[in-house]
Amino acid sequence: MISRGRDIPTVATIYRLMFEPQRKKVYLSFPMSHVMDLPGTLAEIEKFKKAIHQHFICFDPGDVDEFLIYAAGDKAQQEGREPDPLYAIAGKQRSTHNTFFTLPVLFTMISPHYAMTYGARDNWLVLIAICAAGVSMRLYFVARHKAHERNGRTSPLPAALGLLTLAGVAAALMPQPRDGGVAPNGSFARIQAIVAQRCISCHSANPTQSGFTAAPNGLLLDTPERILAHTQQMRQQIATRAMPLGNITGITEEERTEMLTWIDRGAPH
Ligand code: HEC
Repeated sequence: MISRGRDIPTVATIYRLMFEPQRKKVYLSFPMSHVMDLPGTLAEIEKFKKAIHQHFICFDPGDVDEFLIYAAGDKAQQEGREPDPLYAIAGKQRSTHNTFFTLPVLFTMISPHYAMTYGARDNWLVLIAICAAGVSMRLYFVARHKAHERNGRTSPLPAALGLLTLAGVAAALMPQPRDGGVAPNGSFARIQAIVAQRCISCHSANPTQSGFTAAPNGLLLDTPERILAHTQQMRQQIATRAMPLGNITGITEEERTEMLTWIDRGAPH
């Protein structure tokens, strides 16, 4: 899903993604459509890209440039040379990849809205399963486009497999009912201690978490009253593992269970 990288090799991006998780990720964005014939501006954009690439893991839409492959073939033809078959092979490979990975890529783009997927314990498995489901459904679409080669018939099997896989993922991620809640130390004092340790570095008037200058979404959890006023919202965020954000404050499974149990018991205080 990472583009080939036009100027900066993709290897560096992959390496950073795997081994330097603390490095910030950025999606580069710059005006493109009206500057293609302005060499000065293009040079400025290139300079900007290079500088940013030195510090961040960059997802660069400018690198997703299949046109380069086509242009190389075209140029060879104009010069009376045989186009290098490598370009055609690479082009076909990209095109196949793009065809089958359309749905997985779309899902990955909107996945920040679905904390139950990336917040799952085996989130890598969830991603693989959803990718497989997307590829499977795409197989069905592709087959349908060529139905005329098989007397108009298309097997619904790949689509069914894809849907089944998605249903399986949904079932696996379903929140588990918990057993009536005999969590230890489930007192309000204990909950306040967990919130103080795991949440208020962000959710307070003056966050101590670097990068935050105000409580995210204006949600303050820094007094007993404010905690009690937001229990249902907290329940949702903790159960889906959306919070603490990226688990930067290292909440434990026991603490999650304790908080959920306390809320489900009616937040006694
Ligand atoms: C590293 C900072 C950080 C920590 C730590 C953190 N949060 Fe958050 N929280 C955020 C951000 C950022 C948002 C906004 C997310 C969004 O709008 O998509 C948020 C949003 C929320 C919301 C949703 C508010 C709304 O508008 O609906 C709740 C509830 C919440 N957090 C609860 C918690 C709880 C409970 C904890 C501790 C267990 C916690 N957060 C720890 C950064 C943090």
